[in-house]
Amino acid sequence: MEQIFPQPNLSLGIIEMDKAHKVLMREIMSLMQVPNFEFVRRLPHLVELLEMDFRIEEQLMESMDYPELRAHREQHAGLLGAMHQALAKAMNGDYQLPRQVLNMLPQWLLWHLVKMDAPFVKALKIAGAKPINHLVFKPEQQSEKHPHHIGHVR
Ligand SMILES: [Fe+2]
Repeated sequence: MEQIFPQPNLSLGIIEMDKAHKVLMREIMSLMQVPNFEFVRRLPHLVELLEMDFRIEEQLMESMDYPELRAHREQHAGLLGAMHQALAKAMNGDYQLPRQVLNMLPQWLLWHLVKMDAPFVKALKIAGAKPINHLVFKPEQQSEKHPHHIGHVR
């Protein structure tokens, strides 16, 4: 039986992150409705979306020397570990755990967003970050230290 979750407000005020979270949530809700053969075919894409979302966040945190980077990264890694385990099960035709993992994902993401992402975004805004075309940037004084950052303050 499918669980219905209220569509949470995922807005953090950083356009790129908000967009990524919406795409993620749409894909999760959609996967809850599909039969197993489609579920297993599309699950790798969901894992990729999560990996991409987490990677972008972690790059931003690295670029600003965010003090909670390690704890935040541990949470990301914990979820990705569960997702990879679920993916392996689904690929072996066992859908029980993968379905459970998928069903808890919206609540996990909302909890993570409130507890971890929101404080990070607050720190990012304090540091002077503003959205640019496709990614976000970092404080200017950090650019010498991390020459391969992914954006600039404009
Ligand atoms: Fe995060």
